[in-house]
Amino acid sequence: MNIKNHLLAAAAVMAVLAGSVCAGNNQEALRKPEATTLDNLQTAFNGESNAKAKYEAFAAKAEAEGYLGAAGLFKAAALSESIHAAKHAKAITALGGAPKADVKTPAVKTTRENLKEALKGENHESKKMYPAFLKKAEADKNTQAMYSFKGAMAAEKMHAQLFSKALSNMKDWKAKMKFLVCQTCGYTTMDMTIKVCPVCAQPRGQFTEIE
Ligand SMILES: [Fe+2]
Ligand SMILES: [Fe+2]
Repeated sequence: MNIKNHLLAAAAVMAVLAGSVCAGNNQEALRKPEATTLDNLQTAFNGESNAKAKYEAFAAKAEAEGYLGAAGLFKAAALSESIHAAKHAKAITALGGAPKADVKTPAVKTTRENLKEALKGENHESKKMYPAFLKKAEADKNTQAMYSFKGAMAAEKMHAQLFSKALSNMKDWKAKMKFLVCQTCGYTTMDMTIKVCPVCAQPRGQFTEIE
């Protein structure tokens, strides 16, 4: 066998090996069952329950550091997450499940670090997690889960915007600030002139004021 044939033979062996690795990965993927909407609701319920605990701890830290506006934002976000958790819990119960959350003690850092951590979480939830969960719930035609995921996704997007705003100019967030949280879907805003919730159409009277 000349050198060219040696190289061709070696390439053929590599191709076979690569094929078997790929086939192995595909089989792995096939074996892994897709998460059900009930699984996704449990993941979301656990996430929202932990986010509520985390934001309450971050609010206390922000207050201690003199960032009263940031403390208000964390309090508003904590209320919003508790509304999401309650809605997910109802959707879990409707599917015959029991809501379960493993609430961990939050790791509290400086308010700047806490805002960064919060922003990261909100971006993950609003851009990746909830869109995927919503797609599955739509495929399942589970309107209660769809409604629950949609409301949370819209609120998390607003939380991300507000956390980002606070991070971009922290010194302004030492002053007290007011927030409105929709009691139905958790939508959070600083627009005190709001007439109806843009997500669930509840009137202004259904909003809780937080500062
Ligand atoms: Fe959030
Ligand atoms: Fe709402």
